[in-house]
Amino acid sequence: MSDPSIHRIVLGVTAGVAAYKAADLVRRLLERGFDVRVVMTPGAQAFVAPLTFQAVSGRPVHRDLLDEAAEAAMGHIELARWADLVLVAPATADFLARLAHGLAGDLLSTLCLATAAPIAVAPAMNQQMWRASATAANVAILRQRGVEVLGPGEGEQACGDVGPGRMLEPVEIAERVRAMAAPAVLAGRRVLITAGPTQEALDPVRYLSNHSSGKMGYAVATAAARAGASVVLVSGPTALATPPGVERVDVISAREMRDAALARAMWCDIFIAAAAVADYRPAEFSERKIKKREGDDSPRTLELVRNPDILAELAATNPRPFVVGFAAETHDVEANARDKLARKRLDMIAANRVGVPGTGFGVDTNELSVYWGDGGVALGSASKTDLAARLVRLVAERYDATRSA
Ligand code: C5P
Repeated sequence: MSDPSIHRIVLGVTAGVAAYKAADLVRRLLERGFDVRVVMTPGAQAFVAPLTFQAVSGRPVHRDLLDEAAEAAMGHIELARWADLVLVAPATADFLARLAHGLAGDLLSTLCLATAAPIAVAPAMNQQMWRASATAANVAILRQRGVEVLGPGEGEQACGDVGPGRMLEPVEIAERVRAMAAPAVLAGRRVLITAGPTQEALDPVRYLSNHSSGKMGYAVATAAARAGASVVLVSGPTALATPPGVERVDVISAREMRDAALARAMWCDIFIAAAAVADYRPAEFSERKIKKREGDDSPRTLELVRNPDILAELAATNPRPFVVGFAAETHDVEANARDKLARKRLDMIAANRVGVPGTGFGVDTNELSVYWGDGGVALGSASKTDLAARLVRLVAERYDATRSA
């Protein structure tokens, strides 16, 4: 099961002593950028209080199929549709049996029937129960239906037995989920990304800027982190939250962005410039607010000077990282993008057409085509999240190809 579009996880917690470890699992999943909602069976609540899960997930815990208030907020069908993956950890022998036989007597088992998303289970039980032929038969049914069975591990058990049946450690489960969501194509790589607009101050209250929201660059940072990279995101002013697992360096102007990026040029293996850097800045910064001239309506002239081209500068460092640029074009997308690829000595360029609905600034969707020396591919039109995941896979492929060449 390798689904590149797993972002939202319903974590089902059932009545095993390992339920206490599921609280840590929530944190491990959040760290890896997943959005997590917790569903607890009644038995699980005897082991760990729902409040614990509410605190670690920052969301109300779903517990009851017949709770009017909860159903009104997000009903079980809605939750089943929301999920990209239903992960049950710990999964008891009883739960595996119910899942194998299609029972739907509580919220979690109902949700498993009602979802079209893949299901993964992390069994946790006494070693004899795991070895029991009924359990083995249930697990075989589940596997045959495509349910991903994570573990169990072997070792000492809460009951004192030794053998198979321990729930895998939260970090291991989270890593397995990440591998399902996005293959770790950038494991061990260091990726530097610029994102967002820059603001070029005129005086203490005014600046020149552009409409960049930072969404594409943040999506690329999220995707790179999910693919196992260490990511530093040099960000101009945006309203976005820092992607989980990403180190963010905030800057305002192009010159600050350049300094922050160049300082990390030697650190990174891959540099991706998704920022909409202002090409020009006011030639002078006025320490005082520029006053309007009362009674003088004649035009005023603003003198501008060029900002540094961060991408071209990074591409000219020696040794240099693998360098990826973005191009927003209103026409002749491929010709203009290829020209930029050559002129700035880039390894790869991702181009999108601006000025058409559903692409470019502020929106959640985009349409990208990617070009490099002798190749190119249209990644199509999709959410920025999906496009970022596709782009990251392509970057990893080209990076590996250039290194082995
Ligand atoms: O030349 P143009 O602005 O179209 O190039 C776009 C690409 O160059 C983007 O990747 C953008 O992040 C980067 N860029 C930069 N510094 C600039 C201007 C653009 O890094 N001053």
